[in-house]
Amino acid sequence: MTTQQKPVVLITGATAGFGLATAKKFAANGYPLIITGRREERLKALSDELSPLVAVYYAVLDVRSSDDVTEFTKNLPERFQQVAILVNNAGLALGAEPADQAKLSDWHTMIDTNVTGLVNVTHSLLPTLKAQKSSTIINLASIAGNWPYPGSHVYGASKAFVAQFSRNLRSDFAGTGVRVTSLEPGMAESEFSLVRFNGDQEKYNQIYNGANAIQPEDIADIIFWITEQPAHLNINSLEVMPTSQAWDNFKIVKQ
Ligand SMILES: NC(=O)c1ccc[n+]([C@@H]2O[C@H](COP(=O)([O-])OP(=O)(O)OC[C@H]3O[C@@H](n4cnc5c(N)ncnc54)[C@H](OP(=O)(O)O)[C@@H]3O)[C@@H](O)[C@H]2O)c1
Repeated sequence: MTTQQKPVVLITGATAGFGLATAKKFAANGYPLIITGRREERLKALSDELSPLVAVYYAVLDVRSSDDVTEFTKNLPERFQQVAILVNNAGLALGAEPADQAKLSDWHTMIDTNVTGLVNVTHSLLPTLKAQKSSTIINLASIAGNWPYPGSHVYGASKAFVAQFSRNLRSDFAGTGVRVTSLEPGMAESEFSLVRFNGDQEKYNQIYNGANAIQPEDIADIIFWITEQPAHLNINSLEVMPTSQAWDNFKIVKQ
């Protein structure tokens, strides 16, 4: 199969972490790529790096704006219009204080990005995805959407939305060519914790040193594997943790 025949892949949040590694993985395998994010200089650098391998289109896109998402989708260059693999990856956590100490603005930003942003992108691309013979949506949820932990409040709840939205999309598209996966990683080393803790490098080091966390390339390999499954198979959800991570006990807080 030549590069020209491979399906077009759209990745949101391709400027760092999972999205960046996933872009490299698909490029190495010859897939034409649309890469998006807010940091243009990073998109341009990635585009320059990958363009010798595959066709790349980059666009600055804040997924929170439904107008911008609609414009972006409407104006995709012809070569990139037939998106068949959507990796809804853009997302973030902000803070890990107990709920009563969290900033309301942080809660809004998480909902706007992880819920509204993902919905914006999905809704604008569904007609395209449905028009393909076979297409795949991979939504980045999290173990935080499956299991509670202190300080997760809105972040975990936003990822529970992503997981249930994925299952509900499956219900609507059963029997069509559209596949949907909720990918639910545990602790992974990326800029995620720098964003969460406002650039605090010391906290980042505390979290990851010795943790043997998931690496972005591990997630990129899993995403690629999901898309490579035969068209009659749908990976509904996939939860992955580093071997070093597991569940904690139920807690009892005595009065
Ligand atoms: N790392 C973990 O432990 C972990 C575990 C489970 C799930 N996840 C989820 O996996 C996804 C990727 O996380 P990561 O670990 O790769 O984090 P990361 O290294 O911080 O990357 C996050 C990406 O999201 C983009 N982004 C954030 N807000 C955006 C917005 N409003 N519009 C467009 N793009 C936006 C960022 O790009 P710009 O800043 O350039 O816009 C960046 O490319 C997220 O949804 C995260 O919740 C992460």
